[in-house]
Amino acid sequence: MTMNGKKLSGKVAVVTGAGKGIGKAIADALAAEGAHVVLAARTPADLEKAAGAIRSAGGAATTVRTDMTDEAQVDRLIGEALKVNGSVDILVNNAGIGVFKPVVTMGISEFDAMWNVNVRGVFLATRAVLPSMIRSRRGAIVNIASLAGKNTFKGGAGYGATKWALRGFAGSLMLEVREHNIRVVTICPGSVDTNFSPGGKKGAQITQPEDVASAVVFAVTAPERSMFSEIDLRPTNPA
Ligand SMILES: NC(=O)c1ccc[n+]([C@@H]2O[C@H](COP(=O)([O-])OP(=O)(O)OC[C@H]3O[C@@H](n4cnc5c(N)ncnc54)[C@H](OP(=O)(O)O)[C@@H]3O)[C@@H](O)[C@H]2O)c1
Repeated sequence: MTMNGKKLSGKVAVVTGAGKGIGKAIADALAAEGAHVVLAARTPADLEKAAGAIRSAGGAATTVRTDMTDEAQVDRLIGEALKVNGSVDILVNNAGIGVFKPVVTMGISEFDAMWNVNVRGVFLATRAVLPSMIRSRRGAIVNIASLAGKNTFKGGAGYGATKWALRGFAGSLMLEVREHNIRVVTICPGSVDTNFSPGGKKGAQITQPEDVASAVVFAVTAPERSMFSEIDLRPTNPA
């Protein structure tokens, strides 16, 4: 806890996919705890709106237009974040896309697009941020996976496989970097009330983006010796 009572004052947090939905809620919540948030996504108007809301609430935000499938753009994102005050304390790998259809009708470009954002993009951002975290001997890498990465369902072969892969990536990463005091936290929400997929569940009983954001804040503000390596997040009573 810092002098102003905010738990993340002086910290820099990068949030990918921060223009809307879960990423926007995570950026809001980290900023409300005092972090300087660096927001990344492909749509500048969304980024500016999200950053404007944070600044209006008294928080600090920087936007960097980034396509997570482009290595040079991801390196630039982390480079810009390092300019804020020399280190990145928190990386939230949230950007993700989902195409839900049976394998027999899935296009290869749809399949590849999911892997490129949901897995390859996470690898690129993580690899870019690690040298500075290892140097500063601290940091948290938070991955937004899904309960679709723990279960199987019709129409989920492509998307679900990327989230199973993300969990595998994150588990091994955690074992590699914990010796540098770096936490790797993977959050697995069920359906969240966003516009992520046309068939997505809606309503007050469904997990809200803010609920995922609370889990992120909880994990990154826990005592540094403890790591919530994986968190499942589901509605209490979805009926
Ligand atoms: N909603 C759910 O039910 C649910 C459940 C479990 C897990 N999740 C996971 O939660 C994460 C966020 O989902 P959401 O529901 O918030 O989705 P969303 O409302 O569609 O928002 C996705 C965000 O990711 C960004 N994004 C997409 N492709 C990108 C790319 N190539 N480069 C940079 N940014 C990109 C989007 O911005 P641009 O299009 O402007 O780039 C947007 O800001 C995803 O990883 C998703 O798999 C969602």
